[in-house]
This record gives sequence, C-alpha cells and structure tokens, in this order.
Amino acid sequence: MLLYIHIPFCDSKCHYCSFNSFTKNHHLKNLYVEALLKQLRYEIERFEADGFETVFIGGGTPSTLSLKSYEKIFGFLNPYLKNSKEITIEANPTAKAEWIEGIKDFATRISFGVQSFEDKKLKFLGRNHTQKEAISAIEHAFDAGFEDINLDIIYDTAIDTKELLKKDIETALSLPVNHISAYSLTKEENTPFFDKEVNSKEEFGYFIKELLERKLPQYEVSNFGKPSLHNRGYWSLKEYVGAGCGAVGFYKNRRFYPQTELSGYIKEPTNIHTENLSNEDLRTERIFLGLRSDTGVPLELVEKNRVEILLEENRVKTKKGRLYNKNFFLADEIALFLL
Ligand SMILES: C[S@@+](CC[C@H](N)C(=O)[O-])C[C@H]1O[C@@H](n2cnc3c(N)ncnc32)[C@H](O)[C@@H]1O
Ligand code: SF4
Repeated sequence: MLLYIHIPFCDSKCHYCSFNSFTKNHHLKNLYVEALLKQLRYEIERFEADGFETVFIGGGTPSTLSLKSYEKIFGFLNPYLKNSKEITIEANPTAKAEWIEGIKDFATRISFGVQSFEDKKLKFLGRNHTQKEAISAIEHAFDAGFEDINLDIIYDTAIDTKELLKKDIETALSLPVNHISAYSLTKEENTPFFDKEVNSKEEFGYFIKELLERKLPQYEVSNFGKPSLHNRGYWSLKEYVGAGCGAVGFYKNRRFYPQTELSGYIKEPTNIHTENLSNEDLRTERIFLGLRSDTGVPLELVEKNRVEILLEENRVKTKKGRLYNKNFFLADEIALFLL
C-alpha cells in the first residue's frame, strides 16, 4: 500500500496553480498536524495497512511545515515504514538549508518546484524565489545526502523561447538531479492565468526531444529520469491512503475524499466522502494510466482486433501479456480508441 500526505499551505499563490492550498491561516498548522494524525490512525485501521511501500508528501508546499511537525508525523508513521522503499517530499526552493538537512532524516527523495532558472519567467509565473535560490537549495539537498532529487519545470509559457528552454535544461542537468517532471502550462479555472493568453504559440516537441537526448528516459508523459516508485505504483492502480485536506485515497474499488476546506478538515478529519467505482470505471482508469506511462495495460482489458490495428500502425508494442504505448503524448487518443 502507498501513502499520500497533503500539506495545504503555501507562502504565496502562483498565477497558474489551482492546487488545494492556503496562504492564510498558517497559525492552524499545529492543529492541522493533529488532525492529520487522527485521520492516519483511522485510515490505517480501516484499510488494515500493516506498512507503506512508498510515501509521497505533496501540497501545497510541504517545506512550509516545521521539522518539529515532521518529527511528530514520522514519530507516528515509523512502525509502518520498516519496509518502505521511497519517501518523497516536495519543497519550494525557498526552503532553508537547515530544513533541507533536517528533512533528510525522514525522506529519501526531494522534489523542488523550480519551474525555470530564468528570473523573468519566475516572475511571470508568480513564483516567490529566484534562480539563485533554486540552485542553492538543490546544492544543499545534495550536500545533505539526497541522491534522488527531482525538479519540476513548466514549459509552453508565453515567454518561452527555444534558447530559454535550452538554458533551463542545461542548468537543470548541470546540477545533481536524476529526475525532471516537465509540465506544459495548463490554464486552470479560478486562477489569474485562466482567461489570459499565457501559452506559447510555438511547438514544444523539441523541448522533450532535448530532455531525451540528454539521456533522461521518459517513463510517463511528464516524467523523465530515475522512475519514482510511488508514481509507478499510482499509475498501476495500487491502493493508497490519501491523508490531509484535499487528498484522495483509493482502496478496494472505492475512492475517498477528505474535506478540502481547512477548518472543516481540522474539525472532522475522518468525515470522508466515498465514491464507488464500477468495474468499467476501473478498466477505463487502468487503460488511461497504463498508456500514459511505461507501466502498460494488461492485454485482457482491451479488444484484440483494436490492438492489432495499433500494432500495424506501429503505435504500440506488446510484451508478456501487456500492451505498451510508444508515444506517451498520444496516450489519450489511443485510450479512447481502445475503450
Ligand atoms: C505542489 S507543486 C510543487 C511544490 C511546491 N508547491 C512548489 O511549487 O514549489 C506541484 C507542481 O505542479 C506543477 N503545476 C501546478 N499547476 C500547474 C499548471 N497549471 N500547469 C503546469 N504545471 C503546474 C508545478 O510544476 C508545481 O511545481
Ligand atoms: S505551484 Fe506550489 S507554491 Fe505555487 S501555489 Fe501551487 S502548490 Fe503553492
């Protein structure tokens, strides 16, 4: 079983982001941690979890929570992490060296929301850090002993040029990182970017090509490098506990949604909405997730004659009873053909 923990606090809100996070109410952090532990106790019991293979702490911005809070969280979780293989935490590049060093006691992998190494692009995106801070945060992480470091990069923005993105990749890969998550900028509802012309008019295939040429293998539409075990587990539809305000859990054909509103969650962390999934829902999910990543899709889930058409067109391959997509960017199109 996997565990996802959501930390719904950010120091400021970026112009593009619709993630569930709050820039106010930081005085509620201690109460939030108490609520989180209450939900975790409840989930471990009802999911009958005896341990977690992987943990992912995301947000919001997990680096806005103090080391003391993580001592509490991991003090509780430790008995369930004896056989765990990967513990990832997300951090903003403003994270202090002391926090990065301290968090190494708990996490094996760190993921920085860098987005770009160009200050004017950071400003455009509404980020609260500079390229200099990003570089020193990554160096601190490496010095603290992190071997698995990810950077999030955003591309397809109105101010991107071929040169700018090339420089972003070059800077990223001159640093001790072994994974890049490259997201094309999406215009999300209820964000300042939603009704603005913020995307580029250029084609960005070369950006991905550049990443691949630099030997970071693509294993999912947005992910390159040493695969994250947690991501892989998620894409192969393993069961997971989703703890925190706005997290999602998945267990035995059901999805679980804790409250998204902060004070509501703190009051009742075990008041969780349940969604039942039909076999058809699960089949659809397996096909979409399997084609977007190198986890593939079990052949028994798809019609043989459709697979043959795709094989003839050289879009997919099959191996040991599974179907694999050759171009993750066409995943949705292929999935719709197979459904
Ligand atoms: C939870 S944040 C990462 C940690 C931390 N909050 C930070 O931003 O530094 C997850 C990542 O999702 C990506 N993201 C969020 N909204 C996006 C959007 N609308 N379009 C593209 N990427 C987005 C960003 O790359 C961001 O780093
Ligand atoms: S991108 Fe990260 S820091 Fe920016 S608002 Fe979203 S969660 Fe917060």
